[in-house]
Amino acid sequence: MLERSGYTKLRVKMILTTLGFSLIPLLILGYTIYRQFEISHTNKILQNLNHITENKRRTLDLFLNERLSQLTAIAYTHRLQYFLEPETFERVFTLLQARSKYYIDLGIIDHNGDHVVYTGPYQTIRTANYKDEEWFQQVQAKGIYISDVFMGRRNYPHFIIAVMRREGDKSWILRATIDSDIFDSLVQSDQLGANGDAFLLNAENILQSKPRFGPRLLGKMDLGAFSRFPGVRSEMIEVGGKQYLFGLAWLENKNWLLAIRDDPTEELMPLKRTRHLVWVILAGGLLLIAGGTVLTSTTIIAQLVRSEREKATLNASLTQSSKMASLGKMAAGVAHEVNNPLAIIKEKAGWMRDLLSEEDLKASPNFKEYEDAITKIEYHVTRAKDVTHRLLGFARRMDPIHEDIDINQVLNQTITFLENEARYRAIEIHTAFQKDLPFVASDSAQLQQVFLNIIDNAIDAIGKDGGITIRTQAVHDPDEVIISITDTGPGISAEKLDKIFDPFFTTKKVGEGTGLGLTISFSIIQKLGGKINVESQEGQGATFIISLPLRKA
Ligand SMILES: Nc1ncnc2c1ncn2[C@@H]1O[C@H](COP(=O)(O)OP(=O)(O)OP(=O)(O)O)[C@@H](O)[C@H]1O
Ligand SMILES: [Mg+2]
Repeated sequence: MLERSGYTKLRVKMILTTLGFSLIPLLILGYTIYRQFEISHTNKILQNLNHITENKRRTLDLFLNERLSQLTAIAYTHRLQYFLEPETFERVFTLLQARSKYYIDLGIIDHNGDHVVYTGPYQTIRTANYKDEEWFQQVQAKGIYISDVFMGRRNYPHFIIAVMRREGDKSWILRATIDSDIFDSLVQSDQLGANGDAFLLNAENILQSKPRFGPRLLGKMDLGAFSRFPGVRSEMIEVGGKQYLFGLAWLENKNWLLAIRDDPTEELMPLKRTRHLVWVILAGGLLLIAGGTVLTSTTIIAQLVRSEREKATLNASLTQSSKMASLGKMAAGVAHEVNNPLAIIKEKAGWMRDLLSEEDLKASPNFKEYEDAITKIEYHVTRAKDVTHRLLGFARRMDPIHEDIDINQVLNQTITFLENEARYRAIEIHTAFQKDLPFVASDSAQLQQVFLNIIDNAIDAIGKDGGITIRTQAVHDPDEVIISITDTGPGISAEKLDKIFDPFFTTKKVGEGTGLGLTISFSIIQKLGGKINVESQEGQGATFIISLPLRKA
């Protein structure tokens, strides 16, 4: 049988192996699913961001293009002379405003930088001269000009679009002021989520539209230096100590950078949820597998322990049986060989006794000694014959008969044999018999011998003052009758417990016990198809338990 620690080791090994084989694939699977989801989710986010950025850039370019073509069309359809009539110019402006309410005012500036005609709410700027201003130089050089957003004389965020027309050797400029609020509404939209943002930056990182978070319009928003690049780009940029994903695109008509900021927490929410889900599934799987493994290993080990124990019991009883068998053979031989000499010794001793009664021998001074010696020889021969008789009985035991017997009745009879002896030693015999105990198919004479042996032993063990309790009980599955005989004697030490059924094991004085009582009892019960067991602890009495099958096995 394996040691206790051996079972523990085996169990740990089983658990670890099963866990290893099932957990590793589970973890790999979980990780793969999560990675796959993460990749496709990130791709989706990037695609979405690029899409929004590209759309907005197109809208903004379209807006600027439209303004440019409107103004170019106006400048090139009529000569300067035509616009110098204030009502005419007013009408042109009204027409423009009808197309887009974001036009604030409109003016024409001659090649000297003087405002020659103006229509709009800021009449004070009529007299302004722009000759030295940078934008004036740029229109002269390039023909068209779109300014950055600025506050200017109007003290209101706006930008200007200017178109130059040459007429003969002179040139004039048609200039419109446009409310830059338009960019806020074009750039912002609800596509951006709760924490997303979008804004326009000029080449110096000055905000050209109002962001939802961070600095105000015309404030500085440093995303780093980006030289112009074609198309759309997405990049992780740190703003205010936090990393954000940005979609970036340069406008075609103006050196402005469109920046769309993604809301990271919102966008990563599904990813986080997936990670949680994966963890929960993994943890659940782990618990299930661990529970299952522990349960299985416990069951298997328990089964193993049980069968090992059964094997050990079987082995013990086989050993006992083989001891009995060899003892039986030996006993028959010894008894046979010893019996004849014993018979002769007994006969010769009788003959000597007869001779002693003759007169001349009676007169011998040693007559008394001779007589004592013969008595002793006869006594010891009788004792020896007793042993050989028991041995022969044990060896040539008759096959038991099987008749229906009432165990309670057999026990009562046995008790009557021993009652006097018990009373003499102040030992009380109690009985606790089950009423209507079913009959047992067995051999009453042989059973009586067993009960006698055991109760006799109990009386010997107690010596004086004590009690013996005899119980009977029927049990089911298997159908058996259980007889237990408990005494208040000194009990049996663990070391002796292993030997008490062995032939010739006795603790009694020479002449008082042969050590065959329990050996014979064991073999009888075994032949009757039952079992005999003993439970005892030193100092706490002993209990012999016999179980007999109701029917012959
Ligand atoms: N009820 C008991 N309490 C304590 N020891 C016991 C009890 N029954 C038996 N023993 C021990 O077991 C030994 C063997 O018993 P067993 O009946 O086989 O032989 P014995 O009683 O010594 O001799 P025999 O029965 O042949 O006259 C006893 O000597 C005794 O030491
Ligand atoms: Mg005995």
